[in-house]
Amino acid sequence: MADLAWWQSGIFYQVYPRSFQDSDGDGVGDLDGIRRRLGYLKALGVDAVWISPIFPSPMADFGYDVSDYCDIHPLFGDLAGFDRLVAEAHALGLKIVLDFVPNHTSDAHPWFGESRSSRENPKRDWYVWRDPAPGGGPPNNWMSNFGGPAWAYDEASGQYYYHAFLTEQPDLNWRNPQVRAAMNDVLRFWMRRGVDGFRVDVIWHLLKDRDFRDDPLNPDYREGEADIRRVLQTRSTDQPDVHGVVAELRATLEEFGDRVLIGEIYLPVDRLVAYYGRDLGGAHLPFNFHLILAEWNARGLARLIDAYEAALPEGGWPNWVLGNHDQPRVATRIGPRQARVAAMLLLTLRGTPTMYYGDEIALENVPVPTAQAQDPWERNEPGLGRDPERTPMQWDEGGAAGFTNGRPWLPLSADHDARNVAVLDGDPRSILSLYRRLIALRQDPILRAGAYHAVEAAGDILAYERRLDGRRWLVALNLGPGEQSLALPEHGAPTGELLLSTFMDRAGPVAETLRLRPDEGALVRLA
Ligand code: GLC
Ligand code: MG
Repeated sequence: MADLAWWQSGIFYQVYPRSFQDSDGDGVGDLDGIRRRLGYLKALGVDAVWISPIFPSPMADFGYDVSDYCDIHPLFGDLAGFDRLVAEAHALGLKIVLDFVPNHTSDAHPWFGESRSSRENPKRDWYVWRDPAPGGGPPNNWMSNFGGPAWAYDEASGQYYYHAFLTEQPDLNWRNPQVRAAMNDVLRFWMRRGVDGFRVDVIWHLLKDRDFRDDPLNPDYREGEADIRRVLQTRSTDQPDVHGVVAELRATLEEFGDRVLIGEIYLPVDRLVAYYGRDLGGAHLPFNFHLILAEWNARGLARLIDAYEAALPEGGWPNWVLGNHDQPRVATRIGPRQARVAAMLLLTLRGTPTMYYGDEIALENVPVPTAQAQDPWERNEPGLGRDPERTPMQWDEGGAAGFTNGRPWLPLSADHDARNVAVLDGDPRSILSLYRRLIALRQDPILRAGAYHAVEAAGDILAYERRLDGRRWLVALNLGPGEQSLALPEHGAPTGELLLSTFMDRAGPVAETLRLRPDEGALVRLA
């Protein structure tokens, strides 16, 4: 226990800054708003707060298009306000993790202005420029993750630039040493201001195939799916030499000591774990999104957890994520009843959990009328936009749920008078109370550090044990709508003590057989 780092023993909480707390009435959340809510986060029991981008940006992709890496967007505050936030967070014992967006800049970044100005400009090679294909047209078949081709033609210089996302987000050329030096300096800038680490945006995109070969077509693509599904991004992403770049970022963090490097990575488990790096010199936490992507059934999840545990390199620390600002809300994906089961899963698995703001009140996707749509992806490919999972946090029964005195930039959920922190706080069996209880239980070393052991189960039950120093805790989750039962695992006397039901309505001794109601999860201390 003593030898766990803070990013291993702690719980991470993602704040989408536009939507957490507004302090100045413009309807958009900001840094002073986050600072006002640090007490809430502390009391909830989380340890580290990752804040999505807060840097100057034309907001084409809501801050993931950065035009200055070393400043704060006035919408969110300023550097002095940021320093206040870090100081107050640290005084409370909370870590602050920033979002680092190295794969691309905004097209409004001065670097890109120089780069596009002429083929001879010293910064030309800072971005990915290519001649048209021999017969004209884009250099290859690479596609934008937001739909359409990933190449934009620049009339003036007669070349295309590559953009894995919007045309307003040109990709940097990470094969250029000057780019790498400049971007590593950005990390130093923020670490000098006290930042505890970074979540690195699309880290598996940083290097592309040297020869710019086509991506293979995806044989499984079905009409109506996102455009990007037409290809398998095996040439445009996840190149073997990217691990050298990641190791360099890690080395920069090591200069400051005790910081965390988190990588955003959507890859199958076997490719994902490569991002721990050779001799674990890569990301501390390559984000594991497989609970978001997997079908929600007991056997499939059991296989996933076992496969992930088995794939981890020696010494690699696991992590689990249930939601983020790019994915439908967990309470919408699996329904509000299973959302409670998911909370127990997230907070009892081995490895660092990351929560997404609002999941603790089971906020669901909020329908956003077309006229109010904000996400550019929604405009490119209607129905795929991410606005519904980015709506404001709901704090109380005040106007705009305590989020703002103005008009919120995205709508609140229709049930915000009931679904808010103040109301759920007053209900000892609410999902918020469940999260608090689970977080409190996770302070026990057995959940933070104990070994993971799969438990054979049938039907809709997902079960596993955590073990430490001869102690054993059993987690049994009913992922289905019927009653289920599980014989307590063999070991001395088959009895245990129910520490927590996700319904929060029972506790006490369990003998031989654990019965679970529909959608119930149970945490049992085995005798
Ligand atoms: C990441 C971010 C997403 C953004 C994209 C481009 O996937 O999480 O929100 O749109 O990168 O930066
Ligand atoms: Mg504001």
